[in-house]
Amino acid sequence: MNYRHAYHAGNHGDVLKHAVLAASIERLHEKPTPVFMLDTHAGIGTYDLSGVEAGKTEEWRQGIGPVLAARPPALSAYCTHVESFNRSGELTCYPGSPAIAAAMMRAGDRLVLSELHPDDAETLRHWAYDKSGVAVHQRDAYESIKAFLPPREGRGLVIVDPPYEVTDEYDRLAKAIVAGHRRWPGGRWMIWHPVKDRAPVWRLMDALMAGGVEKMLAAELLIRPADGVSLAGSGLILVNPPFGLENWLAEALPQLQAVLAPQHGSHALRWLGTS
Ligand SMILES: C[S@@+](CC[C@H](N)C(=O)[O-])C[C@H]1O[C@@H](n2cnc3c(N)ncnc32)[C@H](O)[C@@H]1O
Repeated sequence: MNYRHAYHAGNHGDVLKHAVLAASIERLHEKPTPVFMLDTHAGIGTYDLSGVEAGKTEEWRQGIGPVLAARPPALSAYCTHVESFNRSGELTCYPGSPAIAAAMMRAGDRLVLSELHPDDAETLRHWAYDKSGVAVHQRDAYESIKAFLPPREGRGLVIVDPPYEVTDEYDRLAKAIVAGHRRWPGGRWMIWHPVKDRAPVWRLMDALMAGGVEKMLAAELLIRPADGVSLAGSGLILVNPPFGLENWLAEALPQLQAVLAPQHGSHALRWLGTS
């Protein structure tokens, strides 16, 4: 078993991405027609916060821990999802993107999970075996974008959450998303990125715009001022965000910042391509 990502489980970046994921699905569910979801870098499903890896860093103590304790109003539905994985009341299980998406699925919805690492894909398969409508593929994210888009449902969301461990990740991302967007212009995407050096993120945004991707909302939550080197926070690029998500983010981002980084944090929300 490979639990290397458990070191960071439930940190501020996870809380931002998973709360936005839950809010997006909630809004997609305002229409009754089935929703397709592709999670391109799926991980292992859920993370044990009482395990050795999470225990070494305890990043969740500066993330989901205080958020559950403060329960900001805009994050209330997300908090309820996390609590549903921790019925004893003690926080030990942190739901990753596949777990949030699977928990919210309705009959007829479909979730495809793509995970390249063989051990992680195996763990994910075990986790997903009893979940109807959920398929696990041990496959490269960028191949999955080619293989599964456009989906027959016509409506849905692609969740892109790479580890950013390889130097050409941003370039690969840009090419894959531009190509995927051409095949499925109405598809909705959420692309998570860390905020350290901003240059590669700006290049990604420029490449998406140059590739014809329009309607992109950028959301950001910083825990400390960005110095260009260390991890200051994270952001999401939301392509074709569901109706109502912008208003939700305008409430949720300041509430999250007030809990996670009241002194030195900041947040931002803007449409790309507009000044
Ligand atoms: C940050 S973790 C994903 C966490 C997950 N999205 C969540 O929110 O619970 C990134 C995952 O991507 C996987 N991965 C790395 N490169 C990949 C690739 N090219 N294709 C698919 N998965 C990849 C890693 O093995 C890791 O499990």
